[in-house]
Amino acid sequence: MRAGGTPVAGSDVRRPVLARTRAELTDALEACRARGGRVGLVATMGALHAGHVSLVRKAHEVRAVEDAVVVSIFVNPLQFGPEEDLASYPRSLDADLEVCAAERVDVVFAPGSAEMYPEGEPLVTVEPGPLGEILEGRVRPTHFRGVLTVVAKLFGSVRPDFAVFGEKDYQQLVLIRQMAVDLAMQVEVMAGETVREIGGLALSSRNEYLDDDQRALARALWQALRAGADAADRGAEDVLAAARGVLAEATALELDYLELTSPALGAPPASGAARLLVAARVGPVRLIDNTGIVLGRPADQPD
Ligand code: PAF
Repeated sequence: MRAGGTPVAGSDVRRPVLARTRAELTDALEACRARGGRVGLVATMGALHAGHVSLVRKAHEVRAVEDAVVVSIFVNPLQFGPEEDLASYPRSLDADLEVCAAERVDVVFAPGSAEMYPEGEPLVTVEPGPLGEILEGRVRPTHFRGVLTVVAKLFGSVRPDFAVFGEKDYQQLVLIRQMAVDLAMQVEVMAGETVREIGGLALSSRNEYLDDDQRALARALWQALRAGADAADRGAEDVLAAARGVLAEATALELDYLELTSPALGAPPASGAARLLVAARVGPVRLIDNTGIVLGRPADQPD
């Protein structure tokens, strides 16, 4: 079942219902819920690219016919630091709606700030705890409080049964999963794989700030992660050394961190599943990337 939407003249594409308020969102999902359908959410800040599309497709893969897929689009001021790019962050609602129509999204929830934060900055926010203080949290101390607060609010507004978040923002994914468990939110948090350009750069809305030289330089992040993964069978030290070797060649790149952790972002195991994460500044843009590896096993050997 489609939750509604307007047919596009001359094609079988249906435009998603556009809900600008929580009341409109509730109306748009009423039919789906009345028939016992589940709701899947892909939360975004817009400027949709192939990475977002893959999350929507993942939601479609797990949905049943009677379910509805909602994409939220909201540039959340709470997760930007004072020196960050809130004002210039790309906004392209019309183009995003076209993407959502082509991807058979049922409802787009695109609230304004006044709808999300009617009284300004909320007095009660979600505290990310220690996992929010490492890696990205060291450089962006208020970021994950902003992310978790808006995601909690989106969960409260959309009331999704399942939600798909990208592995590209791995720490965010781990924290959202933890929040859903710790705060007993009735939502299954699923991971969507990172989508990469040819050359390996992970897709991100901020890539559009990069010029050609910076884009070429940015590929060193993925090359470093690959080099680390290729050394996985030789253990943690070699993984980090191999990745560092690649990054050392990319002298114009300002490295923030390269870290090897457990999948839950704790200390890495001596062998078994681990996560290699990197963040660096390339020209005007701060980029992050990560990959899963299995320590003690060659990179191309399946689980
Ligand atoms: O990953 C993002 O785009 C944002 O952090 C999210 C999850 C939509 C919250 O604003």
